[in-house]
Amino acid sequence: MNNIILSLKNLTVSIKDKKILNSINLDLEKGKIYAIMGPNGCGKSTLANAILGHPSYEIHEESKIVFNQKDINKLTTDKRVNEGLFLTFQTPLALTGVSIFELLKQAQPNKELHKISEEVHNYAKELKVNEELLFRSLNQNASGGERKKLELLQAAVLKPKLIIFDEIDTGVDVDALKDIASFMNKYQKDTTYVIITHYNRILKHVNPDKVIVLENGKITRQGKANLAIEIEDKGYGNN
Ligand SMILES: Nc1ncnc2c1ncn2[C@@H]1O[C@H](COP(=O)(O)OP(=O)(O)OP(=O)(O)O)[C@@H](O)[C@H]1O
Ligand SMILES: [Mg+2]
Repeated sequence: MNNIILSLKNLTVSIKDKKILNSINLDLEKGKIYAIMGPNGCGKSTLANAILGHPSYEIHEESKIVFNQKDINKLTTDKRVNEGLFLTFQTPLALTGVSIFELLKQAQPNKELHKISEEVHNYAKELKVNEELLFRSLNQNASGGERKKLELLQAAVLKPKLIIFDEIDTGVDVDALKDIASFMNKYQKDTTYVIITHYNRILKHVNPDKVIVLENGKITRQGKANLAIEIEDKGYGNN
């Protein structure tokens, strides 16, 4: 039981009275890599947002979200992040007036700014993120691919226990994908990864221990890495 980092029990989530996720049961182990696949609108981002405690999502009474042995259902998002959860956004927004340094200092008030700055610069170099980007407001005029790298960079500085990557590979060119994947592999150590993706191409580089398929708000299939290949080949079989 101790090797479980995140446990979802009966997770049912609604938005404006519309049920999006229906009784999800899932145990994720420490240090493992999971891929979540599923058709557009099946509830993948909703699952990520519900785990992080997004206030727009209504979690039903009987649902439980246990992270690192602690029931986090009632915690606000910032507290969940302090516990060691992190989400890289599918569509990272620009944050006017706030640099990546300021944001990370806010998240880690006890860490010295020069230490944060050093880490950001080192990771930026590894991810081939242009230095000049770091001094703008976060994501200001950044391309889609640059934004995805900046998301990953923030995760690397915060060193969470579990990271959900919501389509980190979408809109990313082949070379950038390789940069992202090798960075993810290098810094995985005992971090649990949940990679939400539509494509096997990232999973060729970051090999998942398990592939989970979500359809219509429910887990319909689970399997090994070859399930992702099968899906890419044959689709979800709903057409
Ligand atoms: N804030 C919201 N208000 C109303 N409906 C929403 C909201 N957020 C999500 N939904 C609906 O919930 C369903 C699931 O959306 P979600 O973003 O979780 O899908 P997804 O699996 O991530 O899809 P994609 O692969 O396109 O990213 C969709 O039908 C979507 O329109
Ligand atoms: Mg989504």
